[in-house]
Amino acid sequence: MADGNGQPQNRCWSATVLTLFPEMFPGPLGSSLAGKALEKGLWRLETVDIRDFARDKHRAVDDTPFGGGPGMVMRPDVLAGAIDSVTSGGPDIEGRPVVYLSPRGRRLDQALARQLADGDGVVAICGRYEGVDQRVLEARSVDEVSVGDYVLSGGEPAAFVLLDAVVRLLPGVIGEPAALEEESFSRGLLEYPHYTRPQSWQGRDVPEVLTSGHHENIRAWRLARAEELTKERRPDLWERYRGSGKSRG
Ligand code: ADE
Repeated sequence: MADGNGQPQNRCWSATVLTLFPEMFPGPLGSSLAGKALEKGLWRLETVDIRDFARDKHRAVDDTPFGGGPGMVMRPDVLAGAIDSVTSGGPDIEGRPVVYLSPRGRRLDQALARQLADGDGVVAICGRYEGVDQRVLEARSVDEVSVGDYVLSGGEPAAFVLLDAVVRLLPGVIGEPAALEEESFSRGLLEYPHYTRPQSWQGRDVPEVLTSGHHENIRAWRLARAEELTKERRPDLWERYRGSGKSRG
């Protein structure tokens, strides 16, 4: 295969998911945009069953927390075995970051999705129980990533979110890459509102400027709406955008 510059393209972005529920994959990643891209070989997905690295006869992967408290904690030896089976004990062979999906992690945003898409792939650890033993996170230089300030029952739905956000940014996945520049967060703003036919619906008309054919006015209208929306709904983003000097007011 060759990319747009005629360069040979032998790299394929690849995700390895470490999970106790490999049957959950590809799940939603097997449909729609990500699923089509998977079929086309634009990215690769494999799972590793963490339980395969349990050493005792009960195949236990977790144990009670030292210091007491509710829930169970994933054992470091078991999880390290699973990680090392992918990374050979050092940094991942293909230079992929190892990410543990956890509500305690750095919040996933568009910049992180872009950073991951620009790399070779990711090794994603999905936890269950109360968490995983801290020592394995330190010993294997694992980055913690959260998909939002709420607690899911496990890392798998978070992995779907992370991988979906990244895969759509990979070359060739979205037919019209220009769409990526306009969408929410790419410019530090939420996206402007969209309209299609019918031009008049239930007493509501499409804003006149959008049917004017005047491209500069349309661009200015969209920017103004994007700024308004961001100011109203996401003051945190708005402050950052203003600080970047890109705003008009
Ligand atoms: N696992 C449980 N909750 C999570 C969250 N909010 N983000 C990432 N992983 C999680």
